[in-house]
Amino acid sequence: MIKLSYDMKVYRQHLREVLRKTDNVVELGCHVGKTSEVIMYKLTTGSLIGLDNSPEAIEPMERLSKYNDNFTFISGDVRLHETLETVAKMIDRCDVLSIDLGGGYHPDTVFKVFYIWSSTLKPRDVLIRNQGLIDFVNTAELDETFSSNEGWLESCGSQGIPPQVREFSLWTDKIE
Ligand SMILES: C[S@@+](CC[C@H](N)C(=O)[O-])C[C@H]1O[C@@H](n2cnc3c(N)ncnc32)[C@H](O)[C@@H]1O
Repeated sequence: MIKLSYDMKVYRQHLREVLRKTDNVVELGCHVGKTSEVIMYKLTTGSLIGLDNSPEAIEPMERLSKYNDNFTFISGDVRLHETLETVAKMIDRCDVLSIDLGGGYHPDTVFKVFYIWSSTLKPRDVLIRNQGLIDFVNTAELDETFSSNEGWLESCGSQGIPPQVREFSLWTDKIE
């Protein structure tokens, strides 16, 4: 399932609705961890990897990971393939991918990040916070029907996996 929101309250409510106790979650744009706390509250045996490239995030998020065994923080740019590769190597599966690079942030970048990360990690559910994408979905008129049950675009298959990361599949079955 793919859920889009702009209102932060709605974004967090979507997370509460989809999360299961055992989920492995990847959160892109965790900032100082307000939504990370919402996610961790729902997990028991699951895990969370939070990523952000802001220097502001480093100190609070490293503190959060120190006190929570099931939380890992990565300071990095989620547009870079090496960041995705680091995460793909760390986890056996990603159940939920949560993306908030800023609600008003470029929808083109947010979509690209969604497409590449979800094609590679193949999550069950994806939550995206972005105004431009909601506007596009609400405005576009459709005469053809493509749709997906999972949190990635099934009609596109594995086309979105970056070549650098695809090569990693030679050594692991984590990437299909
Ligand atoms: C609106 S804030 C996220 C707020 C957070 N979800 C919360 O609930 O508190 C957006 C975050 O996305 C991060 N961000 C934007 N572009 C990024 C990128 N390319 N790589 C990593 N983080 C990015 C920003 O540093 C910022 O902390």
